[in-house]
Amino acid sequence: MIIELKDIHFSYPTLGAESGDSHYALAGVSLRISGNETVAIVGASGSGKTTLIQLLNGLLEPTRGQVSLDGETASYRGDFALSWRRRVGLVFQFPEIQFFENSVFDEIAFALRNIGVDEVEIQKLVTNVLKELEMDDMRLAQQSPFRLSEGQKRRIAIASVLIMDPEVFILDEPTTALDYNGVQVMRSIVKRFQADKRTAVIASHDMDFVHSVAQRIICLADGKIIYDGPQRQFFELKDLLTQAHLDLPRVLKIERVLKERGQLKAMTKIPHPMD
Ligand SMILES: Nc1ncnc2c1ncn2[C@@H]1O[C@H](COP(=O)(O)OP(=O)(O)OP(=O)(O)O)[C@@H](O)[C@H]1O
Ligand SMILES: [Mg+2]
Repeated sequence: MIIELKDIHFSYPTLGAESGDSHYALAGVSLRISGNETVAIVGASGSGKTTLIQLLNGLLEPTRGQVSLDGETASYRGDFALSWRRRVGLVFQFPEIQFFENSVFDEIAFALRNIGVDEVEIQKLVTNVLKELEMDDMRLAQQSPFRLSEGQKRRIAIASVLIMDPEVFILDEPTTALDYNGVQVMRSIVKRFQADKRTAVIASHDMDFVHSVAQRIICLADGKIIYDGPQRQFFELKDLLTQAHLDLPRVLKIERVLKERGQLKAMTKIPHPMD
């Protein structure tokens, strides 16, 4: 699946704004996301990451510019919009805003029931997805999703999107509030998408996570793309990282310190986590 944005401008309707004085959350963004890549969207708080990913699954409609899917101009109504949201699954930054059922099981099953999948099949699919997310305790399936820990809520939100088998999987800040094990589970989900030659798009502040999974980086600053390219080059661009208020991943910081101390001579290089 190919998603293309051309010269996108987006402004939120701001209450009490002076007439004609529109502030753009995104201004002049063009990009193309195609199958089989893992893309990280990075940038300072307020740079436009969440706005951008919501444009990728049609949740937001641009103020100006063009969005197309597989070459076809996007429509925000009817069957086109429905199938778009099914093919491009989005997990929100704050998972509970997408919860509305009384039990974890019903929450995850909701979308399947909506499209008429039979209960035996639903039982099988929900069990499989819970297992994949290391949550296969059936007592948990009967609990209210609102009562879970932050990490568990996030996994439920992910399960309810993964169960629809999306072609593109979008995660907004997937590692926030997760412990070490939670981050590992998240990493393995993204890796599974890579292995399946599907597309994952991750908006994240967590440079360690980004460094360990992303092949391509799109960096935003004040609603504009200031870098779009391979991950490997990105972390060498000091000025750009400063402009975007981003830190280096820990492993690269250590590598730098060792190099400065001359202690990295014997070793060629710290292996990249994606090698
Ligand atoms: N619902 C909204 N109404 C009005 N302005 C908004 C709304 N959501 C975001 N904005 C503004 O749009 C700009 C981009 O916000 P966005 O949430 O896309 O950034 P972000 O990079 O995801 O930030 P963060 O890292 O904090 O999640 C910011 O200036 C923000 O204040
Ligand atoms: Mg955000």
